Amino acid sequence: MNMPEKTESVVTIPSLQGKKDRRERIVALTAYDFPSALILDRAGVDIVLVGDSLGMVVLGYENTIPVTMDEMIHHTKAVSRAVKRALVIGDMPYFSFHQTEELTIANASRFLKEAGARAVKVEGASDRRLGLIAAMVEAEIPVMGHVGLTPQSIHHLGHFRVRGGDEDEARKIIEDARKLEQAGVFAVILECVPEDLAGAITKTLRVPTIGIGAGPLCDGQVLVFHDLVGFSGDDHPKFVKRYADVQSVIRQAVIQYADEVRKGIFPDESHTYHPQKKAKS
Ligand code: KIV
Repeated sequence: MNMPEKTESVVTIPSLQGKKDRRERIVALTAYDFPSALILDRAGVDIVLVGDSLGMVVLGYENTIPVTMDEMIHHTKAVSRAVKRALVIGDMPYFSFHQTEELTIANASRFLKEAGARAVKVEGASDRRLGLIAAMVEAEIPVMGHVGLTPQSIHHLGHFRVRGGDEDEARKIIEDARKLEQAGVFAVILECVPEDLAGAITKTLRVPTIGIGAGPLCDGQVLVFHDLVGFSGDDHPKFVKRYADVQSVIRQAVIQYADEVRKGIFPDESHTYHPQKKAKS
């Protein structure tokens, strides 16, 4: 059997646990396509999450509810083709894990068998969901949990807002995170929760916590790639830090291209093919 050439730097579920144990921070970002996944992987990001946020970020849906399994598989395949080192995680879209255990496992296994992901992520921690998570783990499908703000619950919640602001809600979120760990998840996303709550969960859990809008006390951080590089419109939540303004760069390039085409400046000689001139003998 051929052994892989170099495995020591490939991110695995045990290596993520090792990072938490050594108190090394875990770096996660979303990606939805080949070129951005290539950049993330080459930059040394540990987790590339193909989030169902792709519905809003790259497909133009109002929320994540319409995202289908086929859309998730399509984008996860593109990401997996690019990624050599990071752990690729496919996000289970709304209604892919809400029916039978059989259907849930069939959907989750598509991420591993068809799309090249090495784990899936599931929102929520109801008793029924915990049973489904345990069944996926038993079927050798690593699962990441997700509590706090769970965008697939948008119609219940009414709007996206910080969760765990009062004692009852905070207690429930800690309890949910503990139950997820008991069900076998290898990490938990904490979305839009107060810093103290995220810190308490991070201390309580053995598995890593990955925060988004959850302050600095988590074991790792995740952001939506398009938010980070400024390619997702002008409005963004408080927790987003913009490290670039890619939107302006692209807009300027397109304006200049249009101007040059209209003025006959592009294409010029250097961008035009000519038959090869024969060398004189
Ligand atoms: O869908 C997504 O991108 C996510 C992250 C924001 C955690 O769930």
